[in-house]
Amino acid sequence: MPPSQTPRAGRAFQAPRGTRDLLPDERAGLAHLERTAAGLARRYGYRGIETPFFEQTEVFERGVGAVTDIVEKELFRLQPRTEDAETWALRPEATAGIARAYVQHGLHTLAQPVKLSLTGPMFRYDRPQAGRYRQFWQWDVEAFGDPGPAIDAEIVELGLRFFREAGLDDVDVLLNSIGDGACRPAYVADLVAWYRDRADQLPPVERQRLETNPLRLLDSKAPAMVALNAGAPRLVDRLCEACQAHFDAVRAHLDALRVGYRLDPGLVRGLDYYTRTAFEYYRRGAEGQQQALGGGGRYDGLVELLGGRPTPGIGFALGLDRTILALRESGRLPAAEDAPLAVIVGADGAATAERLRLATDLRAEGLPVRADLAVRKLGRQLETAGRDGAHFAVIVGEEPNGDHVQLRDLKAGTQRSIAITDLARELKRAGSSHHHG
Ligand code: HAM
Repeated sequence: MPPSQTPRAGRAFQAPRGTRDLLPDERAGLAHLERTAAGLARRYGYRGIETPFFEQTEVFERGVGAVTDIVEKELFRLQPRTEDAETWALRPEATAGIARAYVQHGLHTLAQPVKLSLTGPMFRYDRPQAGRYRQFWQWDVEAFGDPGPAIDAEIVELGLRFFREAGLDDVDVLLNSIGDGACRPAYVADLVAWYRDRADQLPPVERQRLETNPLRLLDSKAPAMVALNAGAPRLVDRLCEACQAHFDAVRAHLDALRVGYRLDPGLVRGLDYYTRTAFEYYRRGAEGQQQALGGGGRYDGLVELLGGRPTPGIGFALGLDRTILALRESGRLPAAEDAPLAVIVGADGAATAERLRLATDLRAEGLPVRADLAVRKLGRQLETAGRDGAHFAVIVGEEPNGDHVQLRDLKAGTQRSIAITDLARELKRAGSSHHHG
């Protein structure tokens, strides 16, 4: 190591570029979304699953697609270790890993559909900017074994409900069908020919993409491409009969649910596994940008691609970081509700063991209490209790009777003597109105 890089005491480190620390307020925001997701998963019948944060690289190469941006440019590949023949990568998304688990554990033997939910961090070597991170959180749901169309509508509606219950009421869904193996190949061939005729109008990046992943040109946000794409042939006009019937039926089910959606023939998604239904969630007015709040679709070929028997599937992933940003922007991010119900303070500043013991007993009863463990005057202890937002201060050592303490209601400004044996019951009673009142 060159001398300039010798580690020395006092060097300040930073979180890796594109990652952030979630400090308590922001962690509380994420917890709010995790709770919202868990509640909805339960209501809609999605059971929890966890998969490893890393998988064999091939799971993503095959699942997501080797020539997608996510795998080609953004995959965090782990340095191979000499003793292992495998190569691994951090998961850029959850669907491929969950499908791998479905095959590995023979979940096709369970009653279908198998509906699964996962919340956790994903990793993409993306160019960092606001709302685009190298580690970010998703809520992901997947339903295996149901060809739709009703479940497609159920899932689209579930995503909208998540945003609404999280506190965002201006989220729209864009919908498209991207066909399947029966109709897409012929369409793609025509699309490539159409772009080739206009090769001189294509920016260099897009000209290259035309050779590897032509569908992606359709959702390019480059101004020249947006204008050009307005006249491009559309897959929705070329769906085979079965895909057309499926798409019509998905729309009919959304109508029956009174879910409003906007058709977007240019929506193609950035992952290779999709068939038929594709959708993305945006805040109203932000559809033109690349910052979807979430997206998903059907992937009827994925399980087979990963070694399972042919199994239809559909799911979505919602971006929790972007949801937190949107909530904060609209002033809807709930404040952390972590003020203690009570703080245990003492007339004898030095008697910290007494305060700690009482707090420990109350915590054992399930109460959220803090003990003031600093050796300092009662006045200072009470001041801090007020600043912490505590509802009560429990003052020990002021009563002539050692079985009693003073219970001060810091909100109401009242105070009374109470037996220690009654304290937990009294705080529990007050606590139920403290948190829900
Ligand atoms: P995706 O569209 O790649 O789909 O990602 C879903 C959402 O994750 C995005 O809409 C966005 O909100 C969030 N997201 C993606 N990349 C980043 C990033 N770098 N920083 C912050 N947020 C990000 C999937 O991942 C598919 N697995 C969805 C799916 C599930 N399809 C079927 N089942």
